[in-house]
Amino acid sequence: MNIAVFCSGEGTNLQAIIEAVRGGDIKARISLVISDNKEAHCLQRAKKAAIRAIFVDPKEFSSKEEFEKKIIVYLQEENIGLIALAGFMRMLSPSFVQNYPNKIFNIHPSLLPAFKGSTNAVRDTLNYGMKISGATVHFVDEKLDNGPIVLQRVVEIDEEDSEESLRQKIHRQEHIIYPLAIKLFAEGRLKVEGRRVKIS
Ligand code: GRF
Repeated sequence: MNIAVFCSGEGTNLQAIIEAVRGGDIKARISLVISDNKEAHCLQRAKKAAIRAIFVDPKEFSSKEEFEKKIIVYLQEENIGLIALAGFMRMLSPSFVQNYPNKIFNIHPSLLPAFKGSTNAVRDTLNYGMKISGATVHFVDEKLDNGPIVLQRVVEIDEEDSEESLRQKIHRQEHIIYPLAIKLFAEGRLKVEGRRVKIS
């Protein structure tokens, strides 16, 4: 199976996935990394791992549809079976999502549905005074941060936690559950039944 990772920033989740593939945990290939941000470090990480890394400039297209059409060309070239959104700061259109039913993952730094749609879920969690938080890997559907949940991990929030320390705690869990979710998908062990994802 061929995987594409979409990212806009640092790419630590991409790195965790690269390492899980390299270590043989995930029996699949990362064939493509796509970013909407030319400066994104995730593109460098991909190149370093000899993965095809492409910057698709949203400004070059007259509409979101045209932008996504271009991305779909790359996905078809690489015969992609799973798209993993990893810090991709752009919502995909319903028609894009319908092209890949139950074949797109996203990771969100909260226990969804808490802090759904938040662009700074970690800060919002802290400001809300939450005592726990965590990370969620879910399938992507037409609504933001909404599709069936694949895996979640909890972290405890201490009084001393800052936004940065909480972000790090959550990231550590993300780096465990994202590769694991992809491994389960690649092995055909996920079954979506309504909102519930069964793992065999
Ligand atoms: C992660 O916290 C993820 O949950 C969110 O964006 C962040 C991306 O981090 N969607 P990185 O670029 O993988 O380091």
